[in-house]
Amino acid sequence: MVAGARPNFMKIAPIVRALDARQDRFTYRIVHTGQHYDHEMSDVFFEELGIPKPDFHLEAGGGSHATQTAKIMVGFEEICQRDQPDCVLVVGDVNSTLACSIVAKKLHIPVAHVEAGLRSGDLRMPEEINRLVTDAITDWFFVTEPSGREHLLQEGKAPDVVYDVGHVMVDNLLFQYAQLQQGQCGELSSNSIKQQFSRYGVITLHRPSNVDDPATFAKLAQALVKASQDLPLIFPVHPRTRANLEKFGIDLGSNVLLTKPLSYMDFLNLWKDAVVVVTDSGGLQEETTALGIPCITVRENTERPVTVDEGTNTLVGTDPVAIYSAISAVLRGDGKHGRRPALWDGKAAERIVSVLDKVLG
Ligand code: UD1
Repeated sequence: MVAGARPNFMKIAPIVRALDARQDRFTYRIVHTGQHYDHEMSDVFFEELGIPKPDFHLEAGGGSHATQTAKIMVGFEEICQRDQPDCVLVVGDVNSTLACSIVAKKLHIPVAHVEAGLRSGDLRMPEEINRLVTDAITDWFFVTEPSGREHLLQEGKAPDVVYDVGHVMVDNLLFQYAQLQQGQCGELSSNSIKQQFSRYGVITLHRPSNVDDPATFAKLAQALVKASQDLPLIFPVHPRTRANLEKFGIDLGSNVLLTKPLSYMDFLNLWKDAVVVVTDSGGLQEETTALGIPCITVRENTERPVTVDEGTNTLVGTDPVAIYSAISAVLRGDGKHGRRPALWDGKAAERIVSVLDKVLG
């Protein structure tokens, strides 16, 4: 099982739990590629998600995409050659997903891809390339929403290796949400933030297309500063974004509260009570749909259309006027009311493990 970047850790957690329940049948090893390495971007999740420490750590973070991908491939190849797994399970669409699926397939090890078939159609997005390449060589496809199956069939995959299982991210969300409601969490820094505001919105931004270009980032900032006059905004800042805020000298004003990246529980505690979430994250579009919180997605496209068709997500692009007016609509009470998509019921990991039980000899 491969995990490398922040959004991977919560996706493997439910699979670990489901595999642990079938110790009669499965053994597994967790490989952390080290793509994300700061305590707040990595270790804190392992501590909080209740998953074992990784068996292997490749320490391949930082650098260009090529450097990172190459380092992961070299390290992962050694592990596969030594351990000879019967299957390599990858999740999501990050560089670690791409690197490890290529290594496995070239060693004739079957690849299981969790969250397969999503497509934004935008090849300027590194994740889209990762998704296409991974799915080109995957053996078993676990899909989260109807569009995933449709894309895979259009791309010529056999229907009997595409499995509609629901979403492991939602499994984990419901698991952590129940723990939070029962008070099974340590001291959360978001509690003191919440005490300061009766109503607030939450922002996350980290896509290179939004935060790496000074003009685009300044435009987004303009919309956020304006919206923050109507609703205070809390912004846990990704390291890439933090560096660019400083580099470009962007000031978000006193109604946008910047924080360090938060742990899963701390962040959930924050956004579950937000009036609105403004984001360019993939996972958060889905999580807000799962809990029925209005979400405004600051991107021109989404690879997760079910969140728009059925959920609470509105795709607004990066025009500041459109962003501000979407936030205003939510504040007027005109936000979207969605429903939770089929199979987003907390049982995806169990379904995945029962498929693996059948397909692995
Ligand atoms: C990666 C994923 C993206 C995912 C995001 C979640 C790819 C192509 N992108 O983007 O899909 O949504 O993770 O966070 O895999 N950095 C740190 N400390 C860390 C991690 C990153 O300082 O622990 C900084 C470094 O400068 C690093 C940069 O952030 O070079 C970018 O990290 P990287 O993993 O390459 O991409 P993300 O933008 O995090």
